[in-house]
Amino acid sequence: MNKSLRPAVIAGNWKMNKTPDEAVTLIKELIPLVKDADCEVVACVPFVDLHAAIEAAKGTNIKIGAQNCHWEKSGAFTGEVSAEMLKAVGAEYVIIGHSERRTLFGDNDLTVQKRTRAALNAGLKVILCVGEYLEQREQGITTEVVRIQTKIALLGVAKEELKNIIIAYEPVWAIGTGKTATAEQANEVNKAIRDLIAELYGKDAADAMVIQYGGSMNAGNAEELLAQPDVDGGLIGGASLKAEDFSKIVAAASK
Ligand code: 13P
Repeated sequence: MNKSLRPAVIAGNWKMNKTPDEAVTLIKELIPLVKDADCEVVACVPFVDLHAAIEAAKGTNIKIGAQNCHWEKSGAFTGEVSAEMLKAVGAEYVIIGHSERRTLFGDNDLTVQKRTRAALNAGLKVILCVGEYLEQREQGITTEVVRIQTKIALLGVAKEELKNIIIAYEPVWAIGTGKTATAEQANEVNKAIRDLIAELYGKDAADAMVIQYGGSMNAGNAEELLAQPDVDGGLIGGASLKAEDFSKIVAAASK
């Protein structure tokens, strides 16, 4: 596989952190630190921060995204936000199927599929999260789990739409725990996902697919993870909340 066929993408997932004012401060700190990045730089922020973050990032190389969207355009869905609304406010990316949505808020493979479809229809770029629980890894079914999650999410997605999808492999046991997958473990699963894309859409689509790793990625371990042939970037939680830490990961991806 040839890494030069695809850009590295480093995306921050701020989760439920930062008020709008704090978001502006963090974006402003980031701007000079990542301005020469040789990779795509994205910050996925809470809904209420979108407007302020988009304004603060205007004219820079930082792209702004959200962390979820509903599959309907509008209606009686208290507490939800549609993909059209995100697009209208100027968001470019949306994270779909994060394990915290799946485990804490009832998201499942079918709702992830519907959210993915809606986001693509609205013209958003999707960061699609997949990953196994520790028990599943110990049972030796990681590849099967991740293949099923990916396959269901991509049902009905046409080959020409894949350019608007990034897949993030996030082993659930590595998220927020300080336990990172080894570079070999991350690469093995990312490669399995790429092999699945080749099966479903052909080798050219697989070569072009950006597949990130996420789960306790930080300034100290990013370089080794990003050096793997099938790790095309990172989805960063905790370390995306500090400009200096995040910019070090961006620098590691720009090498
Ligand atoms: P941490 O980097 O905090 O482990 O979170 C990873 C993650 O869930 C990114 O989406």
